Amino acid sequence: MRDAPSNAVIASEMRHTKKVFVPLRTVSWLIFVFPLLLLQCSLGQQKVHVFTATDFMLFDTNDLLYFEVLRPKNISYIYKVRPAKDFGGKFEFQSDAVTVNLVAADPPDACYSVINGEALQKSIALVERGGCSFVSKVKTVENHGAIAVFIADNHHDNGEGLVDMVHDGTERDVHIPAGFMLGSDGYHIKRGIEGAGMQGAVISIPLNVTTNPSLYARQPPWSSW
Ligand SMILES: *[C@@H]1O[C@H](CO)[C@@H](O)[C@H](O)[C@H]1NC(C)=O
Ligand SMILES: *[C@@H]1O[C@H](CO)[C@@H](O)[C@H](O)[C@H]1NC(C)=O
Repeated sequence: MRDAPSNAVIASEMRHTKKVFVPLRTVSWLIFVFPLLLLQCSLGQQKVHVFTATDFMLFDTNDLLYFEVLRPKNISYIYKVRPAKDFGGKFEFQSDAVTVNLVAADPPDACYSVINGEALQKSIALVERGGCSFVSKVKTVENHGAIAVFIADNHHDNGEGLVDMVHDGTERDVHIPAGFMLGSDGYHIKRGIEGAGMQGAVISIPLNVTTNPSLYARQPPWSSW
């Protein structure tokens, strides 16, 4: 009858197995995993974030406009808007930020008319992209006395990002300032307003992100960067 192997023998065998196992894993990593990662990177599937969100906000500060939603509370974040390139008025403010209502147009595309024109008066209109030109939308809400308009992308996953809005080439002209917003921001603001049963969101605009770095931390959680 043979002796059962002692604990010491078993332990030394395990050490031996381990020694073989580790280099094998390293080799398989080199052969399979590493080339796969390289391939992913070269195909552009791997998103490499070289810059932080703060960097982006600083780069963008010159041509973007920032505002804060004060109420409803659950969408109280800092949002950004890209002013239209070649139509509408300029966003101009007295030295301090103003508090104003941001009211969603109904229907959201505001292409031909809106049924909540009264609510848009002296407010900033929130309009959705699509169905007609940017200028057409601005014209509709301007006719109802809106003081400015934010046009949100109709892709709620942010689509093309912050689009540079240009004139549609018609003879028409518009006078209130217009800005473009991310689709996810527009979507959540609208849902927040509806959920709270309010006529519009109360916002404070503009925000100076250059002089108030703490604001960087207050971007919405659904923001893609
Ligand atoms: C905010 O609350 C409303 C309900 O009051 C809800 O419909 C909405 O989804 C909420 N939004 C966020 C971003 O939490
Ligand atoms: C923000 O503040 C800085 C420094 O005071 C100033 O130079 C800049 O023009 C301000 N930006 C806005 C958008 O008001």
